[in-house]
Amino acid sequence: MSRIRVLTGITTTGTPHLGNYVGAIRPAISASLDPQVDAFFFLADYHALIKCDEPARIHRSRLEIAATWLAAGLQPERVHFYRQSDIPEIPELTWLLTCVASKGLLNRAHAYKAAVDANVAAGEDPDAGISLGLFSYPVLMAADILMFNAHRVPVGRDQIQHIEMARDIGARFNHLFGGGKALFTLPEAVIEDSVATLPGLDGRKMSKSYDNTIPLFAGGPAALKDAVARVVTDSRAPGEPKQPEGNALALIFEAFASTGEAAGYRDDLRAGLGWGDAKQRLVARIERDIGPMRERYESFMASPQRLEEILQAGAARARDIARPLLEQLREAVGLRRFLAPPAASTGAPVGKAALPVFKQYREPDGRFRFKLQEAAGEVLLVSPGFESPKDCGRALAELRDLVGAPLAERLAELDPSADARRVDIALRTLLSLSAERQG
Ligand code: TRP
Repeated sequence: MSRIRVLTGITTTGTPHLGNYVGAIRPAISASLDPQVDAFFFLADYHALIKCDEPARIHRSRLEIAATWLAAGLQPERVHFYRQSDIPEIPELTWLLTCVASKGLLNRAHAYKAAVDANVAAGEDPDAGISLGLFSYPVLMAADILMFNAHRVPVGRDQIQHIEMARDIGARFNHLFGGGKALFTLPEAVIEDSVATLPGLDGRKMSKSYDNTIPLFAGGPAALKDAVARVVTDSRAPGEPKQPEGNALALIFEAFASTGEAAGYRDDLRAGLGWGDAKQRLVARIERDIGPMRERYESFMASPQRLEEILQAGAARARDIARPLLEQLREAVGLRRFLAPPAASTGAPVGKAALPVFKQYREPDGRFRFKLQEAAGEVLLVSPGFESPKDCGRALAELRDLVGAPLAERLAELDPSADARRVDIALRTLLSLSAERQG
């Protein structure tokens, strides 16, 4: 059975903090360990360019984020872990989607509207300072998601509208060019309500935009200790009972501790544990989890070429999936190879001379097979033997209903002796035939 494709992108502008770890990185990595899940995690570095024109910061952030995810336990060989900018199929798909996305839909995007509102409030031209990149941000994001036919996209609430736009654009493309087949899977947003949002130094949600974060690895144990020391508490002295409910230290502690440990911490606060001691215990508890990760983080940061290799390998595997789908999409919109005279518009009969053909035949042993044969005679692919001509015909018909990566996989399975070139020709033949059927 095919696994559930879970995909999420990480914008590479900042340095990961404790809130990112608890709210996104840790749950994503643990979800990726489920054997039913086929996970796609990528650095959304093209998106990062929209909001940032500091090359050094972009570069550093991609490095830090890649190192963080791997140090935190992501197993790159069991997931797809790559940089968006290493997948040229994504910007290519972005253009195909841009041509079907309605401008009115994008006018309604929250981020764009907020920028327009701010301009209007300031008495400026409504579009002052707004790049086309910001405006079409949701189209690039739709391409990220649709490129890999993701089923589920775990995101924060602020991203729900983007997932809805990806569905909208994908559905429109399916309708216009699918000829009855779903070229794209329509994704669902997944909002994890069970995952804790950590309070920051001032007790509000920990967020870069509030400038209240606790660093995850950056600055080492000293920076962690300094930040925790700055978490706001009340003025109760040691010995006085404290209120653990809603307290930032207790909430952060709970995000790392077992239920039992967390209950002990709360009890001790109620019994008068001093804030200073409470902070020390919190640092020690966090450090127990992230100390070993920090060592791995530092070793990655010291040898970025290891990260480069891992990400390149991830991109190569992701492109193996992206390429056949994009090939299919190009066919669907009419960017086809010049193999046969065009259908319909000339009114002339469709010439198939250049295309290989599928032939069904009976073996001397009584079994039925189909093969794909070039006009020049070379046999490209031979199916396994079937009991009846009906089974044989059905297997061939099934191929016609597959698209993208599953089609490439099925062809390779069908004839394990076929090399990549033969599978590629078979793939193109099926695509041309289906394009012809659609006229
Ligand atoms: N826009 C997302 C954010 O700011 C990041 C992102 C880019 C993303 N492409 C994506 C998330 C695709 C999920 C799927 O958080």
